[in-house]
Amino acid sequence: MKIILLGAPGAGKGTQAEKISKKFGIPTISTGFIIRNAIANETEVGKVAKGYIDKGQLVPDEVVTNILMERISNEDCKDGFILDGYPRTIAQGESLDDNNIKIDYVIDLVVPDEVILGRLTGRRECSKCGRTYHIVDNKPSVEGICDACGGELICRKDDNPETIKNRLEVYHSQTEPLEKFYTDKGLLCKVIGQDSVDGTYAEVLKVLEA
Ligand code: AP5
Repeated sequence: MKIILLGAPGAGKGTQAEKISKKFGIPTISTGFIIRNAIANETEVGKVAKGYIDKGQLVPDEVVTNILMERISNEDCKDGFILDGYPRTIAQGESLDDNNIKIDYVIDLVVPDEVILGRLTGRRECSKCGRTYHIVDNKPSVEGICDACGGELICRKDDNPETIKNRLEVYHSQTEPLEKFYTDKGLLCKVIGQDSVDGTYAEVLKVLEA
């Protein structure tokens, strides 16, 4: 099963991806997490990406597409995967088609911009495995420590109000056109992402198990 999760920054893509991954036994591929690791490890890709990610801009299509194609060629993706954060432009959507990657579901998590700010400023991310938490709505069992791997929870550098505003603008101008792209292919399923994490997941499951 190959799934794309679309949605604005902070719509809950990573949170829902984790649950879907557990249930269906397929890996989540977060291009954002891969890029942040590349930056932390000061790789060539990380050096190119840093200037973009810090400003809330998209990393160039070619760079991200190369990262994605390499990742999905791994053995653990042979039965499917969940794409969290890719595609983000029409060109990226076309790259999936050009590489004969047949997507089964595109789930678009719909959350209004007003809700996003509170979600992202309260988010904490595991520095080791990337699992996300929220200081009010989705707390870890022990403050500051990841339930899954024991890693330290950190505040993402791009989760500050000014960068969030840029990320939302970029989302509306460059990523939202993918809604029509996938509607035209008969693949888009909108899910209201404003409910609780579990309430949203119940709606996601309705799509995947229909
Ligand atoms: P990326 O890491 O993909 O960030 P994003 O799309 O901005 O998405 P987020 O991770 O911020 O949000 P999310 O939807 O996963 O929400 P989450 O589940 O964490 O990308 C970062 C950067 O990398 C980009 O800006 C770009 O520069 C670059 N990049 C990445 N991919 C790229 C690509 N393909 N092309 C070009 N550049 C690329 O939830 C958010 C918070 O809300 C959490 O605290 C969570 O606990 C909480 N929450 C979630 N659901 C609920 C709920 N239902 N109720 C209450 N709280 C909730």
